[in-house]
Amino acid sequence: MNREDFPMLKDDLVYLDNSATTFKPKQVIDKVMEYYNNYTSNIHRGDYDISIKVDTMYDNVRDKVKDFINASSNKEIVFTSGATDSLNKIIFGFMKYYLKEDDEVLLTKSEHASNFIPWLALAKQIKCKIKFIDLDNHLVTIDNVKKAITSKTKVISLAWITNVLGDVRPIYEIGKVCKDNNILFVVDGAQSVPHIKTDVILNNIDFLAFSSHKMLGPSGVGVLYGKYDLLNKMKPLEYGGGMNESFNSLGEVELKELPTRLEAGTPPIEGVIGLGEAIDYINKIGIDNISKHEIELKKYFLEEVKDIDNLIIYNKDTESGIVTFNLDNIFSQDTAVYLNHYNICVRAGNHCAKALKEDLNVKNTCRISFYIYNNKEDVLKTVKALKESKDIFNVIL
Ligand code: ALA
Repeated sequence: MNREDFPMLKDDLVYLDNSATTFKPKQVIDKVMEYYNNYTSNIHRGDYDISIKVDTMYDNVRDKVKDFINASSNKEIVFTSGATDSLNKIIFGFMKYYLKEDDEVLLTKSEHASNFIPWLALAKQIKCKIKFIDLDNHLVTIDNVKKAITSKTKVISLAWITNVLGDVRPIYEIGKVCKDNNILFVVDGAQSVPHIKTDVILNNIDFLAFSSHKMLGPSGVGVLYGKYDLLNKMKPLEYGGGMNESFNSLGEVELKELPTRLEAGTPPIEGVIGLGEAIDYINKIGIDNISKHEIELKKYFLEEVKDIDNLIIYNKDTESGIVTFNLDNIFSQDTAVYLNHYNICVRAGNHCAKALKEDLNVKNTCRISFYIYNNKEDVLKTVKALKESKDIFNVIL
């Protein structure tokens, strides 16, 4: 993994907050700058060279995303502003019309706000029911998924990997159960697509949401994947330029085909082009090597902290690069502020998964989340700081 590619690493920063956002390699930054410096223009509107060039570049990224998640067609890929936007489009552009009163949607209490609050808002509007799959030692099991399903279950909506405990859900098995029971399967891929192989066909995923900024790409860009026949029924939440074929003062409007129908207005062109470069970068390393590297760092960290007796770890066994912990009797934010004095960046708090405390019985935690540029030295620096944490208040006060 080439740390020299990441300008943000120049100051010896130990950046362990990759679930919040990742650093960008210079290849991505240069690509965005290249657009600004050499061919800034709008897409799908210009008849001059630079605009035609940008049309092609933008549309090529759709193909790259399609291949990256193994979708059937590039018409199934919609660019959005992020995973939150994608989920809102799924919930208010499709589910609002698909679900009927008393239909049931299954979630878990460890979902991120973006796969939780929109569903609660929808339930208020259309009176569908939100139910929760029981967690088993904080994890989703296929048995508990099956137990939660009733004849009224119409949708299961889950993160593939959760952002607090980093547990990897049995997506293949859940996808199969959904298919057998005629249930739509929505997957929040914000924490999984950057880290593990995604295959929407193999896993029978009907809708998938993820963000560019968590996978080395620019912020302000996300992806909404939907199986063609479902996506084709989605109603746009935004209307305007670029998504219509024609309209007139009689009120007649003809919309474009997928996917442009769902991309009103000028999109974040440079962001999409940057996402394409990020996908190339990830593909060069190999997504399986990324998962392996993160899991190795987690194992190394767990080994090195074995003797720190005031360290509580909540997710030793989850198979991702996320470690969630607290120092005994220390408020998580104090720990984060303390680590910051050593140039170590971790996230503290509830991590936007505010219902998880009902299951975990802990309101706030510190979270380390590894990515490709982290190394054993980052781990050792963090372990050293944690070992010396008895002086925590002397350092932060
Ligand atoms: N969802 C992001 C996180 O978990 C922001 O930090």
